[in-house]
Order: sequence, then structure tokens, then C-alpha cells
Amino acid sequence: MGIAVVPVAGLGTRLLPLTKTQPKEMLPVGRKPVVHHIVEELIENDIDQILFITGASKASIENYFDLDETLVNMLRERGKEDLLADLQLDYAPVKYYFTRQRQLLGLGHAVQCASDFITDESFVVALGDSIIQGGDAKLLSRMQTCFDDNACAAVVAFESVPKSEVFRYGIAHPKTGDDVFELEDIVEKPSVENAPSQLAVAARYIFTPAIFDALERITPGAGGELQLTDAIRLLIKEGHTVYGVRLTDDERRFDIGNYASYYRAFVDFALSDPTYGDDLRQYVSELLKGSS
Ligand code: UTP
Repeated sequence: MGIAVVPVAGLGTRLLPLTKTQPKEMLPVGRKPVVHHIVEELIENDIDQILFITGASKASIENYFDLDETLVNMLRERGKEDLLADLQLDYAPVKYYFTRQRQLLGLGHAVQCASDFITDESFVVALGDSIIQGGDAKLLSRMQTCFDDNACAAVVAFESVPKSEVFRYGIAHPKTGDDVFELEDIVEKPSVENAPSQLAVAARYIFTPAIFDALERITPGAGGELQLTDAIRLLIKEGHTVYGVRLTDDERRFDIGNYASYYRAFVDFALSDPTYGDDLRQYVSELLKGSS
């Protein structure tokens, strides 16, 4: 039982022209759109209420999570019962809610849009353009255990990135080198020279409502946007405890926010397709042999 907030309102300009009329959160990765993978991950981790923070051009996300009885009836009438298995998510025990971020003022502002929905409980934030796969798919459960054990205001997922990439992310200043660690500080998009570690925020968070108070009090940061990282930093500065949980070696974060990692994600998922994966592997290896 739990609540997750999934921000999906961003413009996705790094994926133009793909995102001109289609949300990046609806792009296919293997057989499913990005948000489908995310909702499956949330359900596996006992989330039963999901609030999407959407925007004007994101209606297809809302439609995707609706029941399409006309389609179901048509498949039944035509004897295509086997295809109904592909619509299984429609019957998952989860409730969907949608609210709009009416001004695109950044991820911090998108999370702030959830404040009326949350009363005094903790909640998950899962970025709508990042898939976590591999391992036993239990990153969020490990984060929840950390949250329960440490009476903290926030738990943030982190992955190790190459040093040359740190300027793209929120970067941890961990107190210890453990897989679960308390944060000394967190910095949004530091320069390579000033980065306190190579641990980058990995698109999953657990917060108490204290985050809303912090979001109220920060000013626009990198890119002129209200940065969620800056609000977490304020929590730490004001004496709240914030923990980090590292992705394990067999867990991966697929960032669907830019072409380089979107292509990788698509190839990875397509190669593990139960029906077409082996065939694709052969095709790609022949292609690569031809080009070497
Ligand atoms: P990004 O930080 O990648 O921003 O969003 P973006 O604006 O979508 O992408 P670019 O930079 O223009 O290419 C991370 C997640 O947060 C959501 C996005 O939809 C994405 O799922 N987001 C971001 C919001 O909901 N609102 C915002 O104001 C910014």
C-alpha cells in the first residue's frame, strides 16, 4: 500500500522531433511505452495509488491507463483472446490520478503540484522518463526499508556514473562508502572538478511531506528551474536526515531523456524480447560483422 507521484509534464526537448506531438514518457521501449514499465515497477513495490503530474500535450498518458472496453470486446468477438494478455495492466489493483503542472517551472515545481494530494504520509517519486530494470526489481523496497529504519526525511536512489558525466546530474556527497549511506550534502549539476562523488541521482525518491515546505522556500537554480535537488539540499542543511541507496551491480537505470540512452534502452529491451530477441541478436551481429 503506498502512493507514488510520477512527473511527466516536461517538454522533452532533447528528443525533438520525436516529442513534438508525443510525450517522451510514451515512447516505446521494447513492447511497452516507458510509463508502462514504470507503473509495473511501482505495482511490484506495493504502490496502489499513482498521481501523474501531466501537462497540456500529455493526454495520451491519461488515455493509456484508461480501460478500453471496446477494444477488449472486439478482441473477444474476433477470437483473439491471447492478445488480451497484453492488456493485463489495465486490470491491476491500482488507482490513477492526474493533475496538471500548469507552468513548466522545473521538476521541483512538478513535485510541488502533488502537495494537495499528500496528507501526512510518505510517498514515492518516480521520474516518468526513467526505467529501473534488473536485479530483483526491488530498488524501491530497499529504499522503503532504509526509510523505515532511519527515521529520515528522504531517501534517494543513486547510480555510479563516469566522472565526465557528473555535470548532468544531482550528485551525492555521501558520509560513507556503503551501499546505503547518509548524505552529507547533494549538489545539482556540479562541474567535474567540484563533484563530491560520481553518485548520480537515479530517478527514484521517497519523501515525507517536509519536502513541500523545502520546495516552497528554494529559489530557481540550474536552468532557471525549481530543482528538486536544491530542496533535498535544504532539508539536509536544516538538520533533516537524508539517505541514499545505491543501485546494485545488476540494476540499471535507463534514461529515456536523450537519444544516446534511449537507443541503448530500446536495443536492450528488444534483445531480451522472448519471441524476437534471438532473431534480432543474430541480425545485429551480422550487421556488425559486415561493418567491421
Ligand atoms: P527532465 O529533467 O528530463 O526535463 O525531466 P524535460 O523538460 O522533460 O526534458 P528536456 O530537458 O526538455 O529534454 C525529468 C522528468 O520530470 C518531468 C519530465 O516529464 C520527466 O519525466 N518534468 C520535468 C516535469 O514533470 N515538469 C518539469 O517542469 C520538468
